This record gives sequence, structure tokens and C-alpha cells, in this order.
Amino acid sequence: MSLVKNILTKLAGRLPKRPFLVFQRQLSTPAVVMTEIEQKFKLPKRFEGSEPSVWVEYIQLALDYKPLNLGQGFPDYPPPKYVTDALTEVASNRNLHQYTRGFGHPRLVQALSKLYSKLIGREINPQTEVLTTLGAYEALFSTITGHIDDGDEVIIIEPFFDCYEPMVKYAGGVPRYIALKPKNTNKSVLSSADFVLDRDELEKLFNPKTKAIILNTPNNPLGKVFTRDELTHIADLCKKHNVLCISDEVYEWMVYKPHEHIRIATLPGMWERTITIGSAGKTFSVTGWKLGWAYGPANLLFNLQMIHQNSVYTGCTPIQEAAAIGFETELARLGTDECYFVSISKELEPKKEFMAKFLQEAGMKPIVPEGGYFMLADWTPLESKLNLSSEKDKYKDYRFTKWMTKNVGLQGIPPTAFYSEEHKPLGENFVRYCFIKQDKNLQAAADLLRNWKSGAKL
Ligand SMILES: Cc1ncc(COP(=O)(O)O)c(C=O)c1O
Repeated sequence: MSLVKNILTKLAGRLPKRPFLVFQRQLSTPAVVMTEIEQKFKLPKRFEGSEPSVWVEYIQLALDYKPLNLGQGFPDYPPPKYVTDALTEVASNRNLHQYTRGFGHPRLVQALSKLYSKLIGREINPQTEVLTTLGAYEALFSTITGHIDDGDEVIIIEPFFDCYEPMVKYAGGVPRYIALKPKNTNKSVLSSADFVLDRDELEKLFNPKTKAIILNTPNNPLGKVFTRDELTHIADLCKKHNVLCISDEVYEWMVYKPHEHIRIATLPGMWERTITIGSAGKTFSVTGWKLGWAYGPANLLFNLQMIHQNSVYTGCTPIQEAAAIGFETELARLGTDECYFVSISKELEPKKEFMAKFLQEAGMKPIVPEGGYFMLADWTPLESKLNLSSEKDKYKDYRFTKWMTKNVGLQGIPPTAFYSEEHKPLGENFVRYCFIKQDKNLQAAADLLRNWKSGAKL
């Protein structure tokens, strides 16, 4: 073998690189070939350490085992009819199938500026202060890439939507983490409101290198809706240290009474330093549309426009037109009971209650969310009765969720995916379930757990 390698190495000096690789492959020395290919084509340095996300892994798990899927965050029932009707109408319009304005389809940025001007209490310029994107994901990416430089520190509140961390790292930034922790664990049923930030710990994270803080309210996966008092504390620190606030508010319309969604951009002195991010997928229950937006002052939005222009340039025209029709419909009935932005929470409230009840009956300890459509539950009261040894993952929430998918037929998401490496133990006792699902499927989940519990003689 080493003789063959020797000859190949000598030949390599006389041959251009590519033929050398092909030649080696023909002589079936794949290890040598792979090493060379792997060396050259490994992930660029700035992406090093990236791994397939929890979504990639768990969507495959669902395809393989076909469980009842309460993992991923989307409705398993049709969106409102006027929304799909709008898309049908747009599809038959001959003029709406070509490129549109790069920074946002004119009718949509108009509608967004009208809506958020009302909600924020100031005139938002549709041309310069709104950018539409490919989902909230791209809005996050353009914001983080457009504002974070090498060595900039970014404060991330845990648990966090998992893409924040890699996006900050790709930009050369340094994530600094702070976890929401329960202040009172003796209660029989915890609420997401029981999870708070330690104010001193937060203050200590701010320093001259801090460029931004990422806020997510209502929070995924916890469902926490930050109070005015909590937001004021964050806002004061942002102002004191001249820090950008990236506010991910994709669940802004899913908030359960008496809780209220407060937009941090409305607090005194915060418009100038806040970029707020939203999602049509979440707003109209059409996650497959992958349409999002960011709004904020023109000077901050400029950076996002540059990233957007030089990566995707423009979004999908018919989808943006249909979403504009959706917003115009809702603008005309804003605040009334018919408004989808009001009715969606009412529709979700009984589903949330039902889920909390059946998880408790199954022996878990749910954390009742104030917003969003996810629920975390502590599954460890069942731990002593389970044998998860067939699963080999490092964190036990991964072992639990995989075991449940395969053996009980119910899929949830492991929350350690929403924590930094150092804080993953904080998420291990929990599972995340999604309740924007048909009643019959929530009932089926309750039945699966009940049958399993009686069969397992817990
Ligand atoms: C907190 C949060 N931000 C952003 C997104 C991404 O939204 P979109 O599907 O519009 O890209 C999600 C999706 O689940 C989310 O939960």
C-alpha cells in the first residue's frame, strides 16, 4: 500500500491536482483521497463547529417513525380562508409573477408601515424603515450579519431560538448568555412568568464590547411575555451602554390574557436603537410562506438592506402581495373580535389549557405559557420508571424525546437545543410540545400518554 502511495505521490508532482485525485480514486485509495478533499473542503473557519440543527434531526426522526408530531411549531389545520383566498386571487393575476422591489414589495411595505405606525405610535417610513425578508430567519440573519463585527459581544437570553447563536458566531461576534431562571419552584403549577432574569447578572454582562442584546418576547420555547418593568430594565441598560436591541416578536399576536405584548421599540429612547422582527408565517398561520420583516430607524435598517441586497436581493412577489391583502383586511378590523390578531389567542387558549391538564395527568409538570404556542413540561417525575438506555445522546432530554417518539409515538423537542453548551443542564429535565394543533390530535396525544401510563404501570 505504501509503495502505491509513494508512486502516487511522485506522480502527483508531475500532474495537475484534479487528475491526481481522479487517478487515486480509480486505484481505490479512498482514505487518501477523502483526507485531501476533506482538508480542502471542510467548513470555512467562521462556520466551524456547525452541526445539523435540532430541526433537521427531528424532522427526519418524524419521517422515520411517523409519531404524532407535537414537536415543530406549525398548525396542523388550514390557515384562515381569506388568507389562502388572497393567494389564489394573486396567483391568477398575470402581473404578479415577476421580481418585485428588493427591499420589500410596495403594497406590503405600505401595509406594514400602516400597521406598525399605529402600534408603535410614530410614522414609519415604508421605503426606508421596513425591510421584508425570507422569513423572520432572514431578518435575524441580515440584522446580526449587518450589525455585528469581529469581537463584538451579543447578549443572548436563554432559552433562545436556536439560530441566534450560530448567526452571531458566523458574524465574528461573541455570544454572552444569561438564563431565565424560576424564582419560585414550590408552586404546584409553574407559569412562564415565574422565570426571570437576575438583574445584577444582566447588568454585569454589559460592557464596552457589548454591541447588541437579542430579546424574544413572547419567548420560544418558554412562552414568557416580558413585562413592562422587565423591558424597561433591559432598555435602560441598552441606553446606558449604547447597545442595539434586536427584538424577535414573531409571536406578538399569541398572548394570553391578562398578559400584554409590549413592543420594546415603544419605550422612551428605544426606537433609535431597536430592530423589531416579525413573521407572516406566525402571524397568519402560514409558516410555509417564509415571509418575514424587520422595522426600525433608517440608519439601522440600511445595514440589513446591504446584507439582503447582496444575498437574496428580493423576496417572493405573489406571497408578499397575498400577505399585503391579509394585513389590509386586518387593518380594517384591528382590535375587534373578528380580527385574526385577536381571535388567534382566543382559539389557542383552550388548547393550551387542555395540554397543561393532560400533561399533568400523565405525571409531568407543565410550565403554563403566557404567550406563543409552545409548552415546556418537566418530564423527570417519570424518570425513575423509564429505561432510556437504548438512546445514546449526551443530554437526557434528547434521550427522552427520542425514546418517546419510538416507543410511545409522541414527538416533542428537546429544550437543551435552546441553551448554550455551558447552560444545557438547565434544559435537560424538560420537553417542548406545540399546541397549535387540531383538537382531535391533542386528544390523541392525551390518549397516547394515558395508555402508555397505564401500560407502563407508573
Ligand atoms: C422565536 C422565533 N424567531 C424566528 C422564527 C423564524 O420564523 P420564520 O419561519 O418566519 O423564518 C421562529 C420560528 O419558529 C421562532 O420561533
